[in-house]
Amino acid sequence: MITVICPNCKKTHNVDEKLIPAGENVNARCRSCKHRFPVNLKSVKANTTVKKSRKKKYPTRTIGVSLSKGGVGKTTTAVNLSAGLALAGHKVLLVDTDTQGQDSYMLGLKPKAGLTEFLTGELAPDEAIVEARENLWLLAGGKSLAGVRRMIDRKSFGGELTMAEALTPLEERFDYIIVDTSPGWDPLTVNVLFYVNEVLVPVALEIMALQGLVEFQKSLASIQKYRKEVNLKYILPTFMDKRVKYPETIFSKLKQLYGNSICSPIRYNVNLVEAPAYGQTIFEYSPGCNATADYRELVKMVSSDNNKNNK
Ligand SMILES: Nc1ncnc2c1ncn2[C@@H]1O[C@H](COP(=O)(O)OP(=O)(O)OP(=O)(O)O)[C@@H](O)[C@H]1O
Ligand SMILES: [Mg+2]
Repeated sequence: MITVICPNCKKTHNVDEKLIPAGENVNARCRSCKHRFPVNLKSVKANTTVKKSRKKKYPTRTIGVSLSKGGVGKTTTAVNLSAGLALAGHKVLLVDTDTQGQDSYMLGLKPKAGLTEFLTGELAPDEAIVEARENLWLLAGGKSLAGVRRMIDRKSFGGELTMAEALTPLEERFDYIIVDTSPGWDPLTVNVLFYVNEVLVPVALEIMALQGLVEFQKSLASIQKYRKEVNLKYILPTFMDKRVKYPETIFSKLKQLYGNSICSPIRYNVNLVEAPAYGQTIFEYSPGCNATADYRELVKMVSSDNNKNNK
């Protein structure tokens, strides 16, 4: 028996290997939602073996870190949340979907390949994924993702599921798949939102914060029409500076509007700016600083939802 997961409805199907036609790539049709999708038997078999040897206590969580506005702390959060979860013993895959490729830089890595080669099928998953730390793996972003955007655009149908089809078979290996997105709104961001079940939105506590969040919610709603599983789960205030008044005011306003989705804020801290220059996470660069305490708090909040229905 091998295990195949539908990238559309995420249902798990156990299939008798003998009934599958010969070949490495076959076409499958989900018994539940009728979605048709390609299956790479090599990676499915590898995942099935891992699954047998690993008992998972909760289903894999897929979290997109996203907001169209630039410079709000998406990459800083994706990297440090992933590193914090890995330190807590969870197996984490961090996926960078940005052409800036900053997740690698922040982790002090220069991978030769990454998400592009993985999505185009040029490399097998194990060749495209790099081990970044204990329990933490990276599918690196970078300039070559511009070509992937064009590849998605050229598909006459199903382009928005490109990432879901590629990443879903890997889920059994990880407890978390955290996906960092680029600023703006492009085919890769749409792909991320057609893949993840949970969205974490970092909101910089500044004058335009609420407007950016409202705009993003509208875009997300247009995806939710087709995919109700994707849920704005966490709103993370960033750049909190208690010395000045307006971040406090905006934070109270956010709490009023979004209640339970609001995480405790990440304070403004210069160590977060310096750590990437040393290729270190905040936990490595400055274990005792207040930003580390804030990211530890975020890790606690996110992981406390492991056994809840994360829809
Ligand atoms: N809490 C913070 N305190 C101080 N500086 C921060 C904080 N969070 C992030 N930064 C810094 O702000 C800058 C932008 O952060 P980051 O790259 O994480 O944002 P982003 O949303 O990923 O940007 P982009 O939209 O360009 O991808 C970086 O220099 C980062 O070091
Ligand atoms: Mg970024």
